[in-house]
Amino acid sequence: MEIKSVGVLGCGLMGSGIAQVAASAGFATVVKEVSPELLDRGFLNIEKSLAKFAEKGTITGDQQKQIRDRLSGTTSFHELAQCDIVIEAIIENLEEKRRTFSELDTICKPETIFASNTSSISITEMMTATSPGRQQRFIGLHFFNPVPIMKLVEVVRTILTDEQIYEVGIEFGKRLGKVPVRAGDKTGFIVNRLLVPYMLDAIRALEEGVGSIVDIDTAMKLGCGYPMGPFTLGDFVGLDTTYYIAEIMFNEFREKRFAPPPLLKRMVLAGLYGRKSGRGFYDYTKDAKNPTPMSLA
Ligand code: 3HC
Repeated sequence: MEIKSVGVLGCGLMGSGIAQVAASAGFATVVKEVSPELLDRGFLNIEKSLAKFAEKGTITGDQQKQIRDRLSGTTSFHELAQCDIVIEAIIENLEEKRRTFSELDTICKPETIFASNTSSISITEMMTATSPGRQQRFIGLHFFNPVPIMKLVEVVRTILTDEQIYEVGIEFGKRLGKVPVRAGDKTGFIVNRLLVPYMLDAIRALEEGVGSIVDIDTAMKLGCGYPMGPFTLGDFVGLDTTYYIAEIMFNEFREKRFAPPPLLKRMVLAGLYGRKSGRGFYDYTKDAKNPTPMSLA
């Protein structure tokens, strides 16, 4: 089976990035959102990212236009009916995802492959909302933020995923310009299984007074060569998202290393979500490029 057309559900941070890389790789791509306003916001992100690539000369002005021409937005599920693959990137809520896949299952052609970009929810739990034929054509495609830059995609199979469909998923990842890795349907897959406990441990180290926000970030950046320290990364990913993923992983494995520390919970309750809300471990409100560490005592 050859993939020619791509549907993306959700045009937020991840959905817009996925749509952009699909269109950049030459696929006709349609993105579905719940409102025209959310679509506009997502397309603005795509414009900004394409402009960065054009400024650097990574793409030409003509290519920028061709990519835009391959992209369309909709608020109707029916526009996704003929897509060869649909990638879901809506909110991390199991019931919402199950409802969405169940509805889409009745609309899309039988051959359409369903994929989810979930970072922590079980693919199997979403898959069971669809018909038996579709369940064999259900995979995970987990991308990383910022999607146009990060080279990895985790390709996830369930115990029911058809072997050939899984290989189509791997090839599709390559055609998007990503490096696919194979992962089983275990909560957190490979990256979050290792990354989330690390980020939570950094918060516990801060709570225990091992070091300051800036010193812990600097230590991991310069000591390990990471592009961002754990607090900068947490603010970048979103502390609400990090908390939510940790909760799901803790509920699945019941292991302390996945338990969200009290400080993270307090910050999320207080609306300190990181960059997107203006404040997290750092305050971005005055100078987003040079944020100042928060006093969280
Ligand atoms: N589109 C196009 N270009 C972009 C871009 C975007 N969305 N975002 C960044 N860039 C470009 C910049 O223009 C810049 O280009 P240049 O080097 O040619 O000037 C380059 O990328 C580097 O950007 P910056 O100078 O702004 O900043 P950095 O050097 O710090 O790089 C970064 C930014 C690529 C985000 C880097 O800091 C990084 O790799 N950070 C780690 C990100 C990470 O770990 N992501 C995974 C998070 S976990 C996840 O997503 C899983 C989920 O389930 C939680």
